[in-house]
Amino acid sequence: MEKEKIVKPVRPETLERITTPELAQKFIDEQVAAIQAQVGDKKVLLALSGGVDSSVVAALLIKAIGKQLLCVHVNHGLMRKNESEGVIELFKNGLDANLVYIDATDRFLDLLAGVADPERKRKIIGEEFIKVFNEEALKHSEIKFLGQGTIYPDILESDGVKAHHNVGGLPNGEDMILELVEPVKFLYKDEVRVVGRALGLPSSMVDRQPFPGPGLGVRCLGAITRDRLEALREADAILREEFDNCGLAKTVWQYFISVPDFKSVGVKDGKRYEGWPAIIRAVNTVDAMTATIEEIPYSVLHKITDRITHEVDGINRVVLDLTPKPIGTIEWE
Ligand code: XMP
Repeated sequence: MEKEKIVKPVRPETLERITTPELAQKFIDEQVAAIQAQVGDKKVLLALSGGVDSSVVAALLIKAIGKQLLCVHVNHGLMRKNESEGVIELFKNGLDANLVYIDATDRFLDLLAGVADPERKRKIIGEEFIKVFNEEALKHSEIKFLGQGTIYPDILESDGVKAHHNVGGLPNGEDMILELVEPVKFLYKDEVRVVGRALGLPSSMVDRQPFPGPGLGVRCLGAITRDRLEALREADAILREEFDNCGLAKTVWQYFISVPDFKSVGVKDGKRYEGWPAIIRAVNTVDAMTATIEEIPYSVLHKITDRITHEVDGINRVVLDLTPKPIGTIEWE
């Protein structure tokens, strides 16, 4: 099928680069008015992943139209520890949002069982996500708008061919046409963060590191099993806690654990103890196209190793990945 060329929207020259709380407030006031004018008394649906972009859009929409916004948070079972709980706590309890929480863990993990190929895993996760979201959307036929956290790099980096953030309707073409609401589509990531702060979102949300859509799915290497996924989630939580404690969380762009699907021999309490290795990766980058390795003090590495091997069931070694990008991509899969 011939691809339909589209003209990319261009950031208005009048939009000053948002670097201060004052400029953010001006942007927020303008967007609140624009959203109210666009939406009127109708309802807006938004997939709220808990990432920076969708969270800032949710907060803007809540400010503009309150309960006319319906947020849907899909837990694919591949979130970091306590992530879904954090989304519910902040938006449902903190901002009194209309929030539907869908725990689709079993759907995703059942589909992924036995699938080892990284690209197939990504495809399954992406397609199932759209399915779960669309099923929920179709229950709300009164909704006329779809909120999206499209940001300017998404537009600049798209290949000029219709992508789902350029068109109305549900992503898989269901017979429910929704008009898009994309209030941050002309902003760069750093500006989205300034706006998020001005909206009162906490640093734990606004300054969070990038997290791939398929989540821990691409860090539980090979075919995902529930026990190894759980070990990965716990080890990752320890890494984050220790990076917070020593201040590295503020300077490192992305840091995480991957767990491969093989075991090595170890010894625990005088007995043979086979376990998986936990691989630490901590990188700095500007645009994720290349990345350098962050130096981690040995004392911190020893502490992390000690905690992971003692606290996480199934892990008996901790290793450090020293590979820059190129040659290693940031994620192992
Ligand atoms: P790589 O591994 O390609 O990663 O060096 C570059 C950046 O992209 C993130 N990443 C993804 N993000 N879906 C996403 O939304 C994906 O499938 C995906 N794979 C990698 C990665 O975490 C890093 O920040």
